[in-house]
Amino acid sequence: EKGGYPWFMLKEIEEQPQAVADTLRGRLGDQGEILLDEVRLTDQDLRDVDKIFIVACGTAYHAGLVAKYAIEHWTRIPCEVELASEFRYRDPVLDRSTLVVAISQSGETMDTLMALRHAKDQKARVLAICNTNGSTIPRESDAVLYTHGGPEIAVASTKAFLTQVAACFLVGLHLAQVRGVKFADEVGAIVDQLQAMPGLIKRVLSTMDGVRELGRSLASQSTFIFLGRHVGYPIALEGALKLKELAYVHAEGFAAGELKHGPIALISEGTPVVAVVPSPAGRGFLHDKVVSNIQEVRARGAMTIVIAEEGDEAVVPYADHLIRVPRTPTLLAPLVTTVPLQVLAASIADARGHDVDQPRNLAKSVTVE
Ligand code: M6R
Repeated sequence: EKGGYPWFMLKEIEEQPQAVADTLRGRLGDQGEILLDEVRLTDQDLRDVDKIFIVACGTAYHAGLVAKYAIEHWTRIPCEVELASEFRYRDPVLDRSTLVVAISQSGETMDTLMALRHAKDQKARVLAICNTNGSTIPRESDAVLYTHGGPEIAVASTKAFLTQVAACFLVGLHLAQVRGVKFADEVGAIVDQLQAMPGLIKRVLSTMDGVRELGRSLASQSTFIFLGRHVGYPIALEGALKLKELAYVHAEGFAAGELKHGPIALISEGTPVVAVVPSPAGRGFLHDKVVSNIQEVRARGAMTIVIAEEGDEAVVPYADHLIRVPRTPTLLAPLVTTVPLQVLAASIADARGHDVDQPRNLAKSVTVE
């Protein structure tokens, strides 16, 4: 059943190009239109939306954080992302024109379910992004967009994450089109770029031997720091979560700009710091800021593990270990930059002798609050 892989997680990591292609399949039209007819919200409902809340837990929450950057940029609708377990306890301001997007692989996560019930009580409209057909969260939502990622067995979420991110991109682009946002002219180009992502994910997967080896060499480290900016920030959080849950190693993800506000004090000689570097093309200022953050930690003794685009030479002098990913538009980069972090965490966990599919203390779906 594991298809020759020692762990389901490794099989699921390898399935990601197909899983993302399956999320996109049938939803991208020839003219660059986003076809989400299965989402039972009318165009008028979507035009009435004046605020979006994304609620989710764990890895699905990180997918929501990525989505916020894309959705706000494309639709100009304010979008907040909140941990489902916090959402309803702080009395959020919701009404008929609020769209609440609940992201869940299993569709059974109690915290997310309670958040969506609270949203419905307040008359907000709820759209579920879910992988499991007929599960409770989509059944209780006004509308659902299934990710079609196929079953995910490993407790650590991998392909579910990439498919959630891809599904959120579809929602953002669809909203922009329906609402006639000026940017909608550019949707065609983004659709082409999205279509290319499964191929790029596959390319990343074909270059992971060095990352596996790096993982083995780092197996005895006791703490890791992950840095990112913009969409790279949620990817830093996701990389740290994977490492915590699989390898039982202390890991923290930070927004790179926050370093100087405290966390940089954690750096000592040899501390591994994983940095997700934005594309130098497009938003070049973001790239330069992250490169200077890498210089700052390295000057304080950090061992830097840098994830950067092919052709980005500026990072070379500051990278003790360099992991290359293909060039992508900035907003779509999480679909490639996440992959080496998954592989790194799995190989560190494996080298430490842990059960990669069934980490201690964790369950695949958390059905208690
Ligand atoms: O089934 P869900 O997507 O609602 O699950 C949410 C989290 O429990 C889940 O993503 C968890 O964080 C994973 N173990 C992370 O790998």
